[in-house]
Amino acid sequence: MKFNTRLLTLGVVLTFSSSAIANETAESLFDTKCSICHSKSRPSDMSKVLAPALMGIMRHIKMSYPKKDDAVKFMVDYVLEPSKEKAICMPQKIEKFGLMPSQKENVSKDELTQISSWMFDNFPSTNFRGMGHGNNKVIR
Ligand code: HEC
Repeated sequence: MKFNTRLLTLGVVLTFSSSAIANETAESLFDTKCSICHSKSRPSDMSKVLAPALMGIMRHIKMSYPKKDDAVKFMVDYVLEPSKEKAICMPQKIEKFGLMPSQKENVSKDELTQISSWMFDNFPSTNFRGMGHGNNKVIR
C-alpha cells in the first residue's frame, strides 16, 4: 500500500518534470532558430526589428486559429512554406519586412511542432493589447 502511494507520487513528479523539460527545450529551440528575427519581448528600437514580435504574431494567429491544434498545424506549414496567400499577419507587415524566408533548412517538422506549441501556450502574455496602442506610427 505504502509502496503504491510512493510509486504514484514518483509518477506524478516525473510527468510534471518531463513537461517542464519539454517546455524548456522548445524555448531554447526558439532561441536558436527563430529569435534572430522574432523578439520575445516588446522591441525597444523599432528601426532594428527584422520581423513581427512573437506577441503580435500569436495575437493574430489566435484570432484566425483559436484552437491549439489548428494553430500549430498552420504555423508548422507556414514556417516551412511561407506564402502571401497563407499569411494571417497584416499585409503591411509583409510589405515592411518582406515575406518570411522558409526555414526548411533550419528546423525539422518535429522541432517546429514543439516550438509552435510553446508559442501558443506562452504568447501573447495576458496584459498584451497591441503593439502601438492604436498608434499607427509603428507601421510605416
Ligand atoms: C530571417 C528572419 C526570420 C526567421 C529566422 C524566422 N522568421 Fe518568422 N517571420 C519573419 C518575417 C519577416 C515575418 C513576417 C512576414 C510573413 O508573415 O511572412 C515572419 C512571420 C512569422 C509568422 C506569422 C506568419 C503569418 O501568418 O504571417 C510565424 C508563425 C513565424 N514567423 C514563425 C517563425 C518560427 C517558428 C521561426 C523559427 C523556426 C521563425 N519564424 C523564424 C522572419 C523570420
